[in-house]
Amino acid sequence: MATLREEIEEARREALAALDKAGDSAALDEWNREYLGKKGRMTALFRGVGALPAEEKAKAGQAINSAKSELEETFSQATERVVEGEQQQRLQAEAVDVTLPGRPAPDGHLHVITQTVRDILRAFEHMGFQVYEGPDVELDIYNFELLNIPPEHPARSMHDTFYIDDRLLGLRPPGASMDDLPPVILRTHTSPNQIRMMRKIEPPVRLVVPGKCYRSEATDATHEAYFMQIEGIAIDHKVTLADLKGTLAAFARAIFGQDRRVRFRCDYFPYVEPGVDLAINCLVCGGKGCRSCKYTGWLEIMGAGMVHPQVLINGGVDPDEYSGFAFGMGPERIAMLRHSIDDIRLFYENNLRFLKQF
Ligand code: PHE
Repeated sequence: MATLREEIEEARREALAALDKAGDSAALDEWNREYLGKKGRMTALFRGVGALPAEEKAKAGQAINSAKSELEETFSQATERVVEGEQQQRLQAEAVDVTLPGRPAPDGHLHVITQTVRDILRAFEHMGFQVYEGPDVELDIYNFELLNIPPEHPARSMHDTFYIDDRLLGLRPPGASMDDLPPVILRTHTSPNQIRMMRKIEPPVRLVVPGKCYRSEATDATHEAYFMQIEGIAIDHKVTLADLKGTLAAFARAIFGQDRRVRFRCDYFPYVEPGVDLAINCLVCGGKGCRSCKYTGWLEIMGAGMVHPQVLINGGVDPDEYSGFAFGMGPERIAMLRHSIDDIRLFYENNLRFLKQF
């Protein structure tokens, strides 16, 4: 029969061998329970001490204790090793490859009409114009009356103009009829700013005014109910039609290329006299005539003229002392010509496949 001493030695050897094989924390726990736990091998050996003769008890106890501390010591080293290994594994599994290229963040850009408006404004800024803005919700008198547009003028028909029920704005006493004050509308062009600017700023003035305009119209490839205009006005002593022509020719060449030819023809707007329209030679055929220019060789890009003396008076400017020119254009049309876009409605459909191209 094996002596207790031999049993201790055997348990010790087995324990060390088993510990060597315990590769993870679960196996270590298991090992700890089996050898060092309350119901483990070492505890069992202590129980055998009671049966020994008195003089051997102390020695046997010491032998078990020293084997036990050796196992405890080895166990804690093994634990350290395993924990470190497992941590290493976890780190490796969770490792981030910092050399991988990042996921591109989609970046937006300015809407093609915003870009066009900025280009147009910049061209005029280079000629000494400043940028000014007026309200989208406008008084009928600024939009029409003060611009020499009499009540029977076709532009005034309900058909073209969005009228605002301004009782919602609290401008009229409750119960007052819509006829008690001049109507409030959405501006149908940026020209009311000619009056607003003249009334606000002493000449000399050179201003460009971008803004949204609204017309109650059926839409098609060249008409939108919601579109932009850029108005321009220059007032000083002795401003002439030659100044208008020089300024607008320089503008047309800044936007459409230095070798552009320009054409001024008579046109009618109630608030200018004389009135003109400005055309550039066709961007597609150069002037020979093609489908783009409807075989005329020319593309009209804006209306303009010398500010009518009555409009100067309406703006508080003395026509005997000052004269001026005004012009108005649609950035959508400019953008359509520049980028060969054939339908104005594309600009405001918010289709990214369209917008991303510009
Ligand atoms: N307001 C005109 C339009 O809407 C353009 C224009 C502006 C013409 C200034 C002459 C002078 O078409």
